[in-house]
Amino acid sequence: MGAPESDPSDKGKMAGKAGAAPEMCTRGIETESVIASGARTPAIGSAAVAGVLLICGRHNAAVSEFPTFTTHLDCSATGKRYTADVLHGLSEAGKPLLVRYDLARVARAVTRETFSARREGGFWRYRELLPVRKSADVVSLGEVTTPLVSLDAVAKRHGARQLLVKDEGRLPTGSFKARGLALAVAMAKAFGVRRMAMPTNGNAGAALAAYAARAGIETFVFCPADTPEINVREIALAGARVTLVDGLINDCGRRVAEGRERMGWFDVSTLKEPYRIEGKKTMGYELAEQLDWKLPDVILYPTGGGTGLIGMWKAFDELEAIGFIDSRRPRMVAVQAAGCAPIVRAWERGEDHAELWQNAQTIAAGIRVPAAIGDFLILDAVRKSRGFAIAVDDAAITQALAEVARIEGLLLCPEGAATHAAWRAALADGRIGVDETAVLFNCASGLKYPLPPA
Ligand SMILES: Cc1ncc(COP(=O)(O)O)c(C=O)c1O
Repeated sequence: MGAPESDPSDKGKMAGKAGAAPEMCTRGIETESVIASGARTPAIGSAAVAGVLLICGRHNAAVSEFPTFTTHLDCSATGKRYTADVLHGLSEAGKPLLVRYDLARVARAVTRETFSARREGGFWRYRELLPVRKSADVVSLGEVTTPLVSLDAVAKRHGARQLLVKDEGRLPTGSFKARGLALAVAMAKAFGVRRMAMPTNGNAGAALAAYAARAGIETFVFCPADTPEINVREIALAGARVTLVDGLINDCGRRVAEGRERMGWFDVSTLKEPYRIEGKKTMGYELAEQLDWKLPDVILYPTGGGTGLIGMWKAFDELEAIGFIDSRRPRMVAVQAAGCAPIVRAWERGEDHAELWQNAQTIAAGIRVPAAIGDFLILDAVRKSRGFAIAVDDAAITQALAEVARIEGLLLCPEGAATHAAWRAALADGRIGVDETAVLFNCASGLKYPLPPA
């Protein structure tokens, strides 16, 4: 799908293809049924980053351009170079593409203070390290820098010095998926895409639907039939066409692939386009900035498709290249649920790729991902960082969620609670030391999930 850099004739192909799709779309939720046609609500405007000022309304005031530094994209498996400024999916090898920047020029253009002086705009503050060229293509719902919440009482209870939670539930649509989908939608807007489709366990679909609604792009979202009701309703309310699929996220992914040509969809499945990862990597920038450009000892990340883990690993290299951090890295810990742990199994076996996990089951819906296209990138980051992969069962997740809510007053999502359960287990078996600073990623608001009875 993506154009190698040596083939300029492909320039604009995807944008043209997506833009030429036949008109159709209705609102609503379907269960494995045929998609019908209808009308779509019109665009309601976009926002732009203007210097330090983020304007989230329909009527943008003065919009100033930022210098941009994207040079090309690389195939993450073969290293083959692809040209920038063309809409890309996977590489010719069927692997994720990674966006590259002229980091020497970025280093000359920004200082640490450049970013910290920008008080507004959440992750858009790192514009020089993002692929969006024009401010007018930025799509914003009022992003914030998510807080690092210190769990002092929980740390003390377990004999540890410091435990921090990066609470991503504060972002628009209540999850970190806002980061990736804001970027994917902005790039789709820049390339004139009219229709986007994705498989989702809920949170990604909600973020896609919301940002695309704001950009005036039609969306088609496929969820497993047992996706939490609140997610399904949220997606539908934002105007997406939702189809409930009798299966798991990989079955939903197949449905997207099957409809891609016929429906003229741009496929925004995890890592099947290169821009979501650029949004997710900003978790790494924020974390470094919040810790005064010193990375923690350990990061525990709830791993499904692994975009955030791979993205942060990429972000750290970029920060080192521009001189903001040194070569020290946190140990990256991929946390999965015992009922769906393909990465843990591959890590334990010393394999580079993860086999499909059969009969995946867990209450942590976001990490119920039986197969990840970026498996080799997740495993690579975990190994290079000298981290590990660990699985926790649903009982431990439920107990961890209750402990943090009761002792700290912080409501984690089940995926975030999985990282807490993993931290406890690793502290107990010595894989994490009591003197080490660990950061847990709580990737969504706990309020998006069914809660246990009072
Ligand atoms: C709350 C939550 N945590 C973690 C994940 C897994 O994220 P990733 O795909 O980056 O591994 C998801 C994905 O849906 C999620 O919704």
